[in-house]
Amino acid sequence: MASLDKKIESTGRQRFVNSVFDRVATRYDLMNDLMSGGVHRLLKDAAIDWLAPSRSVDAELLDVAGGTGDITKRFLRAAGPGSRAIICDISGSMIEEGRRRLAAEEELGKVRFVQGNAEMLPFRDRAFQFYTIAFGIRNVPKIQSALDEAFRVLKPGGRFLCLEFSRIDVPVLDALYRQYSDHVVPALGRVVAGDAEPYRYLVESITKFPNQRRLAQMMEQAGFFRVKYRNLSGGIAALHSGVKV
Ligand SMILES: C[S@@+](CC[C@H](N)C(=O)[O-])C[C@H]1O[C@@H](n2cnc3c(N)ncnc32)[C@H](O)[C@@H]1O
Repeated sequence: MASLDKKIESTGRQRFVNSVFDRVATRYDLMNDLMSGGVHRLLKDAAIDWLAPSRSVDAELLDVAGGTGDITKRFLRAAGPGSRAIICDISGSMIEEGRRRLAAEEELGKVRFVQGNAEMLPFRDRAFQFYTIAFGIRNVPKIQSALDEAFRVLKPGGRFLCLEFSRIDVPVLDALYRQYSDHVVPALGRVVAGDAEPYRYLVESITKFPNQRRLAQMMEQAGFFRVKYRNLSGGIAALHSGVKV
């Protein structure tokens, strides 16, 4: 991992991250399904279950690092019929792919795509009822800035929900998962996507990401109340929820 660390450092983390997602954009959904055996879909379902937007109220979601729109699609199906969403992502290629993916969906008319950085969101204060970030925040170099920005753009009473890889709290699962991430994930990347580096980065970014308790503390530091988390799949992923009062 040392040579990858060096490359990330010399390129600059955000530039390196952008090059990763620009490279994988067209194969992103396929690789997600292959690497997780489809489990990422269940994790995203669990995210929307906890967010629980009301069917009888129209609301606006800001889906940051929204990529190909999986969270947005689920939100719009669960929320009031007049609800809308903005997918904000730093990568033009991921946005293009998201647009292509959503073109076939009836939700397309309710979605706007905005290219932007989670650390400096191009939106006014107190604009949104919901903010989501799924498998996105670990890619943001300054996590605290992203949380501060989430707090800023939410309306009072607004809800923050983050879905992210986290720390496994089951010892045997931990060892198995480490083997899988160190060996199977980069090999799959090499064979299916023809490039192991983005998938080595995936493993690196998960290892370096703050654990459940630390992320919850950072949310409180940003100003969120009622900060709670739920482990999914033994802590392979976790949901963090908070409210702006
Ligand atoms: C692993 S994908 C997740 C996509 C989608 N949310 C999902 O769950 O399938 C991570 C996304 O984060 C985006 N991203 C990385 N750094 C970002 C930043 N600083 N601001 C906004 N988006 C960012 C990438 O371009 C990429 O689309």
